Amino acid sequence: VAVMFRAVPQAFRNLHGSSIPCSARKFSKRADKNCIVGDKVAVVTGSTKGIGFAIARRLAQDGAHVVISSRKQQNVDQAVATLQGEGLSVTGTVCHVGKAEDRDRLVAKALEHSGGVDFLVCVAGVNPLVGSTLGASEQIWDKVLDVNVKSPALLLGQLLPHMEKRRGSSVVLVSSVVAYMPIPKLGVYNTSKTALLGLCKSLAVELAPKGIRVNCLVPGLIKTDFSQVEKTMPHLLPDMNEIYGLFGEPEECAGIVSFLCSPDASYITGENIMVAGFSSKL
Ligand SMILES: NC(=O)c1ccc[n+]([C@@H]2O[C@H](COP(=O)([O-])OP(=O)(O)OC[C@H]3O[C@@H](n4cnc5c(N)ncnc54)[C@H](OP(=O)(O)O)[C@@H]3O)[C@@H](O)[C@H]2O)c1
Repeated sequence: VAVMFRAVPQAFRNLHGSSIPCSARKFSKRADKNCIVGDKVAVVTGSTKGIGFAIARRLAQDGAHVVISSRKQQNVDQAVATLQGEGLSVTGTVCHVGKAEDRDRLVAKALEHSGGVDFLVCVAGVNPLVGSTLGASEQIWDKVLDVNVKSPALLLGQLLPHMEKRRGSSVVLVSSVVAYMPIPKLGVYNTSKTALLGLCKSLAVELAPKGIRVNCLVPGLIKTDFSQVEKTMPHLLPDMNEIYGLFGEPEECAGIVSFLCSPDASYITGENIMVAGFSSKL
């Protein structure tokens, strides 16, 4: 085990040699931020709205070509048009992350740009149930685990051959503060988000020898359609808002993802990083 962990930093130290065109240190001033993740291709799932859209926009602003995706064609079209209208380099395709044929389509679309992929950000997640954990049907369990937990691993498996040949590849999973602090009546969802913390750790160790870093963003309460009181987190939000401060904005989750993809994060892998106004982790 000790040998394995010694290999982790070594693998990453070798990644960012002189062939990296845009050093984040060199371009760390805001005026120069276009090259933070420049010349790279990023795939972002669940990226037509909310947190995923903010991350896609930020990665594109920081110089990456970004492949947008979500379940609905009209959402993809709208998101792509909006970001292209801002002069950003984006393309998009429909991808329900739980469907194998959709993941194939996303991989093919991503490879169109330059034949490889540098970053995968898995944002898509669902919560179809507000109710007791033990009352959840097998279909509910399957849906939540398929979309939230299995799909990032399956998609990464498909992208791996196209990522490992690039230098400095990086994966960011998206968990939730409920992974640490479960919300009653969201037990299946809570569980899926805790599983992602472990998936992050396992993948980080497994992919270190290939020079691929894996980290996990852990958002708190973020103002999006998903977190609307009536939809997902009934009656508990006012209390949580009082304890943990105001809701965050999707944009407040985006800079950290760009950083985690950048060479400045070359010695960071396997981390679960909270963006929640406060961290309940020791
Ligand atoms: N908002 C929060 O407070 C909060 C806190 C912690 C963690 N999170 C996590 O952050 C992620 C994004 O949440 P959000 O608040 O940004 O949600 P949102 O604003 O509702 O956006 C969800 C996005 O994901 C897409 N999507 C939904 N199901 C999908 C699927 N099966 N395959 C592919 N795309 C799918 C949606 O587009 P289509 O409808 O076109 O598919 C949309 O683009 C989720 O994983 C969620 O668990 C959110």
